Amino acid sequence: MDIRPMRAEDFAAFWPTFRDIVAARESYALDPAMDEDAARRWWLESPLETWLAEDGGQLLGSYFLKPNAAGPGGHVCNCGYMVASAARGRGVARALCLHSQQRARERGFLAMQFNSVVESNAAAAALWRKLGFDVVGRLPRAYRHPVHGLVDCLVMYKWLEEARPAMPEPARLIGRKNIEAIVSRSRKRKPQ
Ligand SMILES: CC(C)(COP(=O)(O)OP(=O)(O)OC[C@H]1O[C@@H](n2cnc3c(N)ncnc32)[C@H](O)[C@@H]1OP(=O)(O)O)[C@@H](O)C(=O)NCCC(=O)NCCS
Repeated sequence: MDIRPMRAEDFAAFWPTFRDIVAARESYALDPAMDEDAARRWWLESPLETWLAEDGGQLLGSYFLKPNAAGPGGHVCNCGYMVASAARGRGVARALCLHSQQRARERGFLAMQFNSVVESNAAAAALWRKLGFDVVGRLPRAYRHPVHGLVDCLVMYKWLEEARPAMPEPARLIGRKNIEAIVSRSRKRKPQ
């Protein structure tokens, strides 16, 4: 599987996936009547970057990356992911999400936020959790699902900076017990 930037001429191959996902009304709060031009503007033209996954020329899925907010909130980014129904369950979304986190770091973002993960979208919510996103908020009954009715949406958030290596606390190095242990060891080594 290759992941490469989506170009304008790639969108036609992605459009059926986009159209079917939005028409299903299970994951995105978008108008199911959105046409291809509006979809292209939303997915490909207005984000900072849009990438696709392909295998042997077959488009498997795509994601976009954009700032979630501006100014003092501009270090937090937002992404959206869509995988073609025939390509699901093979790790495409996992690969796209890992790729997007790396791209976000490279562009200087410090955190990634998903504003509205539909809770009944179990595969998505479970995958984002596995990839290190915390549920930091719940929007009660914020999504009207065609089968389950009003369901909650989750706000999910991940800090992207690499964890710093743990440093010993200075107090532990100069603590009284440590000093006594060092003195006692050196006394044992040097008989008086
Ligand atoms: C959600 C979506 C992006 C997942 O794409 P995918 O390529 O099938 O996902 P992956 O194969 O990378 O991973 C799916 C993971 O979910 C797990 N999973 C699948 N169904 C699940 C379920 N019902 N409950 C819990 N976990 C589930 C799989 O075991 C897999 O976990 P693993 O990586 O540990 O093996 C895809 O179904 C999709 O495009 N859905 C419509 C749009 C959408 O929901 N986008 C996300 C909006 S937040």
